[in-house]
Amino acid sequence: MSEQDKKVNMMEWVDKRFPATQVWNEHLAQYYAPKNFNFWYFFGALAILTLVIQIVSGIWLTMSYKPDASEAFNSVEYIMRDVEWGWLIRYMHSTGASFFFIVVYLHMFRGLLYGSYKGPRELIWIIGCVIFLVLMAEAFMGYLLPWGQMSYWGAQVIISLFGAIPYVGETLAIWIRGDYVISDATLNRFFAIHVIALPLVLVLLVFLHIVSLHHVGSNNPDGIEIKDKKDENGIPVDGIPFHPYYSTKDLMGAVVFLFIFAFVMFFMPEGGGYFIEPPNFEPADPLKTPEHIAPVWYFTPYYAILRAVPDKLLGVIAMGGAIAIMFVLPWLDRSPVRSMRYRGWMSKVALAIFVVSFVILGFLGTQPSTPTYTLMAQIFTTLYFLYFILMPWYTKIEKCKPVPERVTK
Ligand code: HEM
Repeated sequence: MSEQDKKVNMMEWVDKRFPATQVWNEHLAQYYAPKNFNFWYFFGALAILTLVIQIVSGIWLTMSYKPDASEAFNSVEYIMRDVEWGWLIRYMHSTGASFFFIVVYLHMFRGLLYGSYKGPRELIWIIGCVIFLVLMAEAFMGYLLPWGQMSYWGAQVIISLFGAIPYVGETLAIWIRGDYVISDATLNRFFAIHVIALPLVLVLLVFLHIVSLHHVGSNNPDGIEIKDKKDENGIPVDGIPFHPYYSTKDLMGAVVFLFIFAFVMFFMPEGGGYFIEPPNFEPADPLKTPEHIAPVWYFTPYYAILRAVPDKLLGVIAMGGAIAIMFVLPWLDRSPVRSMRYRGWMSKVALAIFVVSFVILGFLGTQPSTPTYTLMAQIFTTLYFLYFILMPWYTKIEKCKPVPERVTK
């Protein structure tokens, strides 16, 4: 029997017991994706890559990290100085967290740009929103683990927000902390949730995200349904097999991404104080509040929204609302077309204002509040919400361009 025959026989044996070839074909070799994917379509695959980087580097970190309030900070220093390649693993994880958010924000922006959240892809979007929420919880809990000044005080500020909820707030905050203040009990549970519970949930959600995507098929920069035009064999005329075409394209994206990632990791791992904040190089001190408490950059747009509202409870509601409103986006958009390419000027201007507001809010969230900055945060918070609230109106009245029959470029 030749080598080739042996391989065929082995695959037959496996296929009778497990649908390996079927899954390979249905999801890769004969999965037809639109042929006009562009730059913005790199970020889904890159989000998977960053998730893997976080899980793998995280596993190695736990080999030397100590989830104990009296040892945590020193164990991180030990990883950085004494564990072989420990500094690399730690920076991989801390830089990886920021890169994860950069990738996910760009991935979400692509959704807004091409109307990927519109039917029949509402569930892909909603699962994505849940992923985003879980990712935020994951990052927040991870940041407590090094037990630095910002870990401690950042967690203090965020958990105390729950205290603003009427009647149950204080009890809830104590329940979350497992103590009256952030303590060893808090660190232990955050470790458990950060290391096992949420990563499991994330992996499951990403799986569901992709199952849902493969059920309806990808959108594309033209926002055309490629399944509507099939050849005599039932293959979409504007589709190409994911493998080898997009597997190669994504591999190229991964290589470029890893170059940039490595550059930051080797030459600016603290990201100018944005990826690891300077006070976090000092051990947590419950008796000394840092001069200025600010969350890591990826939370700052929401932190700015929180601070824009003078009342604590209303601030918490505004911050929660800023994320909650994303869930109903598919039903706010009344446009007859998906892609920004064929929408009228109002949608384009609205998206541009939204992006600018988000970035400015992100900046404001890193700064101490002053009267001018608070006013700016109020203006940009309003614009953030107006993008969503006015969407049913401007997407309905604007004049769209005709959508071509076939994908363009
Ligand atoms: C761990 C985080 C995530 C991973 C690993 C992930 C993975 C993916 C992958 C591999 C794709 C297909 C490739 C592509 O279209 O780029 C995709 C598509 C999509 N994702 Fe995500 N995703 C994540 C988070 C999110 C979030 C937070 C949202 C939105 C809130 C989202 C919304 C979408 C949408 C709407 C599509 C379909 C896009 C289209 O067909 O045009 N994803 N995702």
